[in-house]
Amino acid sequence: TVHHRDRSTELEGKEVSFGMSAGATIEKPDYSEAKIVVAMVGLPARGKSYLSNKLQRYLLWLEYQVKVFNVGQYRRQVYRKMAEESGRKEDQSANFFDNNNASAAKARERMASDCLEDLIKWLKAGGNVGIHDATNSTRARRKALEARIKREPGLKLLFIESVCTDPAVIAANVAVKVASGDPDYDGQDPLQAEKDFRERIKHYEESYQPLDPELDKGQTWCQMVNVGKQVTVNRIDGYLQSRIAFYLMNLHLAPRSIYFTRHGESQYNVEGKIGGDAPLSKQGEMYMRALPKLIKEKIGDKPLTVWTSTLQRTIQTASELPYEKLTWKSLDELDAGVCDGMTYEEIEKYYPEDYNARDDDKFNYRYRGGESYRDVVIRLEPVILELERQKDIVVVCHQAVLRCLYAYFHNLSQEELPYIKIPLHTVIKLTPKAYGCDEERFALPIEAVDTTRPRPTNKHLAIKKERDLGMLSPSTSRPPSRGKGLYDA
Ligand code: F6P
Ligand code: PEP
Repeated sequence: TVHHRDRSTELEGKEVSFGMSAGATIEKPDYSEAKIVVAMVGLPARGKSYLSNKLQRYLLWLEYQVKVFNVGQYRRQVYRKMAEESGRKEDQSANFFDNNNASAAKARERMASDCLEDLIKWLKAGGNVGIHDATNSTRARRKALEARIKREPGLKLLFIESVCTDPAVIAANVAVKVASGDPDYDGQDPLQAEKDFRERIKHYEESYQPLDPELDKGQTWCQMVNVGKQVTVNRIDGYLQSRIAFYLMNLHLAPRSIYFTRHGESQYNVEGKIGGDAPLSKQGEMYMRALPKLIKEKIGDKPLTVWTSTLQRTIQTASELPYEKLTWKSLDELDAGVCDGMTYEEIEKYYPEDYNARDDDKFNYRYRGGESYRDVVIRLEPVILELERQKDIVVVCHQAVLRCLYAYFHNLSQEELPYIKIPLHTVIKLTPKAYGCDEERFALPIEAVDTTRPRPTNKHLAIKKERDLGMLSPSTSRPPSRGKGLYDA
């Protein structure tokens, strides 16, 4: 038997909005008022760039315009240019960061300020959050930033300091920095590079002035001690700043992996129908029974949390996993509204305009009485925050929802997001690393239907264009009534 979610009451409410938002494409949220300069603070190797990139990824996912301005990159660019012009290599070793090196100190202030000017320009041209990724480790530097930003009406300044006292974390950050590939130490002997970098840190330590509740009480800031262990906030003002502070409070650096899987193949999957609340097919049940062994192999005896949606296909899939489980309504599949329970062919037949509108802009297209991918991203925000807090975790949910979560971890665009391949009977393991995530996929050899609908081809779009131009007449037939009248438009 195929169990339907009883949608009749939901649909009553939805029908009211058909006239207003039938198959609507919703507007992008208006974030034009939000303009914040986030200035990082902290010694080298305290994860400032890591935090900058992570914050950027989160806010981009929520559709803010965010850009990281890294002062180190400005320094390298300026000095590369100087070296090209003068023909000799400029000294960028630890000496350059020695506080007694007056000319270098002056140059560093200059570069930090040039970088800030570009950031301000970018914010004024429409950006929302510009991240000044530098050490900003003295009070004088921070006062200068503050004075400059005060001259720009509408811009707000938020300092984010990363204090790190754990030698293991610092060592790991140093290792990332000197590992081949970092532009400061590219091509150098790693031991030599590490020695130099540690010397650079020492120079910074000599003049470092951490944010202080008394001395810096007038400024807006968020101080994180050993990421995730302790956070102090001061004068946080407004929605976006508190959102940023809240996000930072939820982060931790403990190594862990996130395992994503769709539910096992469902009876609706076999029939090619979308949505609904169908139970697993025979093949889906095989996946359900195979999953515990695979997870055990990967996790060992470590503790593990399992999340599912409230739909029975995910609950059933997780039912044999011997761990604590939590069901989240927010993890339910994208709501296809009036198209729930239809096949793609039926949607094309009965709602041809919607079908084409979805192909034109899959991220923004909102099903009549249902959701768009954008809607799903918004409802997943609390899930993302909670995922950041978790250690090893298995998330059993759905194709569209997993695409949204996956896009957050891999920083994928709205254009790519609705077409990400999340096949059935496959576990995707993501392991957060210094920048982005490592990924492994484990496909279990249990056959399942392919539920992906590929990106439309040019031919398809050409037909659509003809239709738009009135050369083809759209189908006028109505969708069939299915017993309860759930699908009557
Ligand atoms: O077909 C399975 C399914 O999870 C449907 O329930 C859902 O509507 C669909 O995938 C989402 O995929 P797409 O956005 O590509 O239609
Ligand atoms: C840098 O030059 O790498 C840098 C981060 O600059 P500063 O320490 O001057 O902020």
